[in-house]
Amino acid sequence: MPFGGGRRSCAGKDLARIMLKVFVVEHVRGCSVRLLNERTRFQTFPMPYPTDGMPVNVTCL
Ligand code: HEM
Repeated sequence: MPFGGGRRSCAGKDLARIMLKVFVVEHVRGCSVRLLNERTRFQTFPMPYPTDGMPVNVTCL
């Protein structure tokens, strides 16, 4: 999230990050997430990530 930097960086960035996390959690609470490929492989360098993009099926009530 672009909060600027240096002396004039956003004074509310910590509050904003918490609010964004609460927003996301409140919206996905009622959803179920199912892996479409249970045998997803991970590449580990330079960072761990799924080689197939880890497709999922999201169902919300
Ligand atoms: C997603 C939410 C937010 C974004 C993306 C955002 C982004 C920014 C950016 C880009 C700046 C200018 C930084 C600079 O000039 O380098 C700024 C300044 C500021 N923001 Fe935010 N902001 C957010 C939320 C908030 C919240 C929730 C508050 C207060 C409750 C807040 C209070 C401030 C204040 C007081 C400044 C001026 C800081 C200064 O000039 O010293 N911001 N913000």
